[in-house]
Amino acid sequence: MLSGMSHLLHPFTIPAKDTSDFVRIVSGKGAVLTLSDGRQVLDGMASLWYCNVGYGHPKVNEAIIGQLGSIHAHHIFDPFTNDIAEAAAAAIVERAPMPGGKVFFGQSGSEAVDTALKLARAAQVQAGHPEKTIVISRSNGYHGTNYGGTSAQGFDAYREGWGGLVPDHVHVPGNDIEALATVFAEHGARVAAVIAEPLQGAGGVIPPAPGYLEAIRRLCSEHGALYISDEVICGFGRLGQWFGAKHYGIEPDLVTFAKAVTSGYVPLSGVIVGERALGMLENNPEWKLNHGFTYSGHQTACAAALACIEVTEEEGLLQRATVLGARLREGLQTLADDGLYAELRGDGFVYALVTHDDQAPIDVRWRALDQGVIVRPMADSIGFCPPLVSTEAQVDQLVDAAAAAAR
Ligand SMILES: Cc1ncc(COP(=O)(O)O)c(C=O)c1O
Repeated sequence: MLSGMSHLLHPFTIPAKDTSDFVRIVSGKGAVLTLSDGRQVLDGMASLWYCNVGYGHPKVNEAIIGQLGSIHAHHIFDPFTNDIAEAAAAAIVERAPMPGGKVFFGQSGSEAVDTALKLARAAQVQAGHPEKTIVISRSNGYHGTNYGGTSAQGFDAYREGWGGLVPDHVHVPGNDIEALATVFAEHGARVAAVIAEPLQGAGGVIPPAPGYLEAIRRLCSEHGALYISDEVICGFGRLGQWFGAKHYGIEPDLVTFAKAVTSGYVPLSGVIVGERALGMLENNPEWKLNHGFTYSGHQTACAAALACIEVTEEEGLLQRATVLGARLREGLQTLADDGLYAELRGDGFVYALVTHDDQAPIDVRWRALDQGVIVRPMADSIGFCPPLVSTEAQVDQLVDAAAAAAR
């Protein structure tokens, strides 16, 4: 290796950028990270929206180490299975926002999204509707970076420059019921699925407009389309319920999850396939699902998921999300009311302060880091998505840092 030269190609980063001054993370405990210069900073973003149970949780560490002592992983392609993956799937179905169903496991949110898109189209084929191939997604939606998710992206910039994408993806303006209804009116007989986050996360923490998610449900039901709720950020407690669909009182057909299912201790993602979609997939008892990942049902990842679910329940983290979220909302709202920021968006325990035109989100991020907290710059705002194990004092510290970092 050439001295000083990094061989790491960073995601969502200019390849030619000199990364030698990147912020080096060394360790973490609870909601606090230690940097390579010895500084301790508060993680206001739970890493990248995922570390709900906090860093260095002994129970999760022990579950992982315990599993490694038995077997780290063995695949679950036909005819293999294992008790840990079975238990994790059962625990997730038990907490799902729709009845019954099965869980398909992957590793990343992008894999979960691509799996859900493929399952939705496959379900339509198996139900006798091969003409139903259209997938509708909305602007500001973020659905990962595999080809399916890239095709469903709600950001033009993320869809450009990769050559041909997956056909039959239709994009509608976010939160616009009329626009969605128009696509259904024109192409309803060909719509396989709608994919939507309950609350749009990476797009800038945008809650659903009143009645919007209900409209997706209604239109999907009326036209025989499947509703995919992309819960990669909202799932596992962020909005004070196990799933965002539950928080908003919606019953989707498929749910994608990742991130907080294991708080990122070991990568795990998946798709909950509800009764209705499962019935379609099982229509022909001879049909085989020619889709899967080597690490689907990975024991160590599933052990981490079971431990995280247990920690979430034992420590009352769903309730904590609601309590801490109300405190964060109140504090940040004051900053917007005082004119330090233009607006506050969010719900549960995830928020974004919209910046003024002369206030670059990236500059606010660096000033916040100088104040000892990590926040995330997004298109028009800075994001807050702290670990659910944060303390009240840490929530207040985030608000104080955002105030100091405004200018
Ligand atoms: C809603 C949503 N879907 C999919 C993804 C992609 O997940 P991953 O980065 O794990 O592939 C993300 C990532 O932030 C997400 O927020």
